[in-house]
Amino acid sequence: MMTSLLVRKPLVELTKGVNGLKRYSPEVRGSSAERVNSFLVSSKAIFKPPKAIRGGIPICFPQFANHGPLESHGFARNRFWSIDKDPPPFPAATSSRAFVDLILKPSEEDLKIWPHSFEFRLRVALSPGGDLMLTSRIRNTNTDGKPFTFTFAYHTYFSVSDISEVRVEGLETLDYLENKERFTEQGDAITFESEVDKIYLSTPTKIAILDHEKKRTFVIRKDGLPDAVVWNPWDKKAKAMADFGDEEYKHMLCVEAAAVEKSITLKPGEEWRGRQELSAVPSSYCSGQ
Ligand code: BG6
Repeated sequence: MMTSLLVRKPLVELTKGVNGLKRYSPEVRGSSAERVNSFLVSSKAIFKPPKAIRGGIPICFPQFANHGPLESHGFARNRFWSIDKDPPPFPAATSSRAFVDLILKPSEEDLKIWPHSFEFRLRVALSPGGDLMLTSRIRNTNTDGKPFTFTFAYHTYFSVSDISEVRVEGLETLDYLENKERFTEQGDAITFESEVDKIYLSTPTKIAILDHEKKRTFVIRKDGLPDAVVWNPWDKKAKAMADFGDEEYKHMLCVEAAAVEKSITLKPGEEWRGRQELSAVPSSYCSGQ
């Protein structure tokens, strides 16, 4: 029998668990302390359902934000998931990764608000070098012949030293949606001096977040997820959020690999795959890659 657990907590715990990487490889880049601090979890985060945890990497499914009739970001981030105790192995070439497979299937209650049967397999894997890879496989298991449609995001809360010293590379000159209106980004790398909530469209598969103060760069590589959401609530919205510290916006940035503009449709038996790989490297290491 599978064990029930709250996926939101394990994702936080697993990312803390990169400490354990030392067991897998002597070649871990950066200190374990640096690794542990890669993701922000708010000091005011609420770990009790039905509130989503403010931080880590919430999974937005089957709806991103308020782009549909469901609760914000869909229900997957608020559910108990199961661990698959006998998961399919990785291909031989990547078998050195440590991983866990988490499974979500809809409950009777979920079917009342979103009447579609699915199996969601989330593989959380760590490479020997310390990269975190999340692979979502979502399968339509409807037996009534009906397709379903969804939007999706890995809502990653990156921890940064000072948001005003951070820049994001890879999104310049792209189109984006803001309050559902379309604009085009002008100029160079994205920097931050006020609230931002944008959905960049048709983005490259690699995006970099440069943290000058820490001399650290997060590299996001993604597959099957054409869009990238960039969010920081800034001071006023931060104050209005009960589960977020007033000053925490200064030390976080969400860059979310996503499929929002063009929703995904699956016929019965079809499967979709969306992957996000995260590495944290010294800034000089990243330049020119
Ligand atoms: C971001 C959205 O992904 O998540 C924002 O772009 C939203 O619009 C933010 O405010 C936080 O959402 P929530 O539901 O976790 O408060």
